[in-house]
Amino acid sequence: MDLLTPLELGALHLRNRLVMAPMTRSRATTDARPTALMVEYYRQRAGAGMIISEGIAPSADGLGYCRTPGIYTPEQVEGWREVTAAVHGEGGCIVAQIMHVGRVASHYNKPAGSHTVAPSAIPAKAKMYTDQAGMQEMDTPRALELGEIAGLVEEYRQATLNALEAGFDGVELHCTSGYLPAQFLSTGTNQRDDAYGGSVANRARFALEVMDAMVAVAGADRVGMRICPDNRFNDLADDDPQETFEYLLEQAAARKLAYLHVIRMPKGRVDNIALGQRYFPGRLIANESFDLQEAEDAVAAGEVAAVSFGRAFIANPDLAERWRARLPLAEFDIATLYSPGPEGYTSYPPAV
Ligand SMILES: Cc1cc2nc3c(=O)[nH]c(=O)nc-3n(C[C@H](O)[C@H](O)[C@H](O)COP(=O)(O)O)c2cc1C
Repeated sequence: MDLLTPLELGALHLRNRLVMAPMTRSRATTDARPTALMVEYYRQRAGAGMIISEGIAPSADGLGYCRTPGIYTPEQVEGWREVTAAVHGEGGCIVAQIMHVGRVASHYNKPAGSHTVAPSAIPAKAKMYTDQAGMQEMDTPRALELGEIAGLVEEYRQATLNALEAGFDGVELHCTSGYLPAQFLSTGTNQRDDAYGGSVANRARFALEVMDAMVAVAGADRVGMRICPDNRFNDLADDDPQETFEYLLEQAAARKLAYLHVIRMPKGRVDNIALGQRYFPGRLIANESFDLQEAEDAVAAGEVAAVSFGRAFIANPDLAERWRARLPLAEFDIATLYSPGPEGYTSYPPAV
């Protein structure tokens, strides 16, 4: 078994095991629509075994960064349909990462009338970039009322339905990096005293209800989940990430998801890959700072089913072909990661 061997993840068919990791690139319109440039960007990278899209908001409240896309209006769904058609036209596979930022937001980056909401009214002590006012402190979120939470779960359900209508092959629940499901899971961001806070079962309730809603629409064999226990990104802190994620994974295991996408964290308190291997009986995709040979070895050893690459796909749209031919990799330009326009986005050529 090697990186170029095909793979089935539930109902998802991957022609190789080089997965493109989800990457926010801030090329959407200010009303969160995918653009023709994004169609071209994803088309160029369709040689990945599977593309996981950039984080896509299930509602206006779910947006937090500038020029990021949503999937809650007909125009957005229409835009995504062109992206998925382009990827499928090249024989590729693409899933939508559903990402609600919760408190990780600046009101400058949000549409009028939208709100910054979270389990508790605790702001992330961090700044983010805005087009209008440069770096800004993140908003202080409004704590969600108990009666509002079912509506949030419904947003994920509808977003999943919309993603399927837009032609995505499946959906990935973004359950890390300090965004909304992680805010519910973690003791530092969740100080609720109702059914969604306190015990690990209560803190995991939101993520599991969302997962169930996504599964109800897409089928478990088209739903994946992304985790990174002990991830401190966006000012996240949990007293006992091992316990939290053991519980979450035991519950997810029973739901038979298509895959678990695990970001490793060698310096964290948890061995994330080992945790995934132990508590999730399905297929694992590993991520974070793999080089291609290391990924090949991990797949060959049967440690994981596939490996995802983020940064390597930025300047190497044909990453799988480069690996096949053992060609050298190009370096990406950090200055154009999130800048508008084609430069540093669709401007990286294939090797041949
Ligand atoms: C520009 C950029 C944007 C990212 N956006 C997202 C995102 O929207 N969702 C997500 O889950 N991870 C996101 N990540 C994290 C990547 O998916 C990945 O975990 C990270 O780049 C480490 O993998 P690598 O070492 O192969 O680059 C982003 C990373 C980069 C570099």
